[in-house]
Amino acid sequence: MIKYFSIIQALCRSALTNPNDAILHQINRLIESLEKDGHGKEAKSLEGILSSSQSSADMSPSKIQKSFIVSGGEEITKKTAIPVDKETSTPLAEIFFPVDLPAEEPLFGENIELAIQSIVSEWTKFDKLLEIEATPASSCLIYGAPGTGKTHLAKWIAKQIGLPVVLARLEGLMSSYLGTTSRNIGNLFAFANRYKCVLLLDEFDAIAKLRNDPQEVGEVKRVVNTLLQSLDTRREKGFTIGVTNHESLLDPAIWRRFDIQIEIPKPSPEVMIHLLKKFVAPLEYNDSEIKFLAWCLEGSSGADAEMLAKWLKRSFVLDKRNSFIDMMKQFTLLNAGRVEPTKRNIMLHSDEEFINMLLNDKTYSFKQKDIAPFFGITPSSLSKQLSKSKDTEKI
Ligand SMILES: Nc1ncnc2c1ncn2[C@@H]1O[C@H](COP(=O)(O)OP(=O)(O)OP(=O)(O)O)[C@@H](O)[C@H]1O
Ligand SMILES: [Mg+2]
Repeated sequence: MIKYFSIIQALCRSALTNPNDAILHQINRLIESLEKDGHGKEAKSLEGILSSSQSSADMSPSKIQKSFIVSGGEEITKKTAIPVDKETSTPLAEIFFPVDLPAEEPLFGENIELAIQSIVSEWTKFDKLLEIEATPASSCLIYGAPGTGKTHLAKWIAKQIGLPVVLARLEGLMSSYLGTTSRNIGNLFAFANRYKCVLLLDEFDAIAKLRNDPQEVGEVKRVVNTLLQSLDTRREKGFTIGVTNHESLLDPAIWRRFDIQIEIPKPSPEVMIHLLKKFVAPLEYNDSEIKFLAWCLEGSSGADAEMLAKWLKRSFVLDKRNSFIDMMKQFTLLNAGRVEPTKRNIMLHSDEEFINMLLNDKTYSFKQKDIAPFFGITPSSLSKQLSKSKDTEKI
């Protein structure tokens, strides 16, 4: 018996729990060498290990899938060469390692958060589901209005599974000579399939934009077909997340390729309040002030809330003497697209109408005591002012 042969056997058994071509090749080489050197018994023993591992793999095809999606593929490192567009040398993707991905879960309403939790637990327990022959989803399409946190969500999901993200903006893949678009898509998927990663296809709607150009019909068909084929091969190789703002423009065939489709809505008033509280820190605003900020941004996105918080921080440092309400009037002037036009006009036109509008708002139900401090007066003088103006109206 060869010295350490029991360790060699154990090594082969462990390697074969997760086989790949290189492992099979090396074990076969070892068997051949043992035979050649007259160690027939040992060679037979390894052959036995090899064939029993192969027959168990044949019996449970899901194990092969598992090895691809969960543990198969090469590790991406900082030195891994990223494929580039041949004409312009622009990289086709950007790599985000788990340490670079957002640790904080984006904030959404309860229903969406539950749905997201279910995707995350499906993907983190992917191997367990495969063991019981369940076929977990391996792709997800995230769609919704701009700035609602879709890209942040996709990266956060990847962080939860602990895999790096290969982020490709389809717009980038297509910005080069049209003829090379299909080749770029093919190269990008080949790269993602080779490595352990989550493939994130951001700005998916770029394809739809192309479709609007009547001169490019043939090319668009080719690109869509390449994308469909690539998404099909990707299914067995790893997780894929698509992100788009214009889901209605997506080809139905592409739409169908995604196992899960999740719509991210604009934040509700409650979610907007949470987002603002998170973004304004370390500045301190009381609940009425935060509610007022949410009122100003009603119908806007989380990105707008982040933008307002940055603006408040800047104003806090640069225009310390401005009152809270003056600061918000200035924001309204400079961010016309972020504040609803009726609100904006009244805010800038007359304090009295502005106060009445706040007091009559059904969603936020402001009280006089909430808003009087915004204008630097006491609730009782606000009340006096309001009754005085009512009296004048009667006359
Ligand atoms: N619901 C949210 N929770 C936490 N952060 C959010 C949320 N919505 C937006 N943000 C923040 O706003 C910024 C923009 O978000 P992100 O880029 O993910 O939006 P998007 O939906 O992908 O936008 P676009 O459609 O323009 O690509 C990020 O800094 C993100 O953290
Ligand atoms: Mg985005």
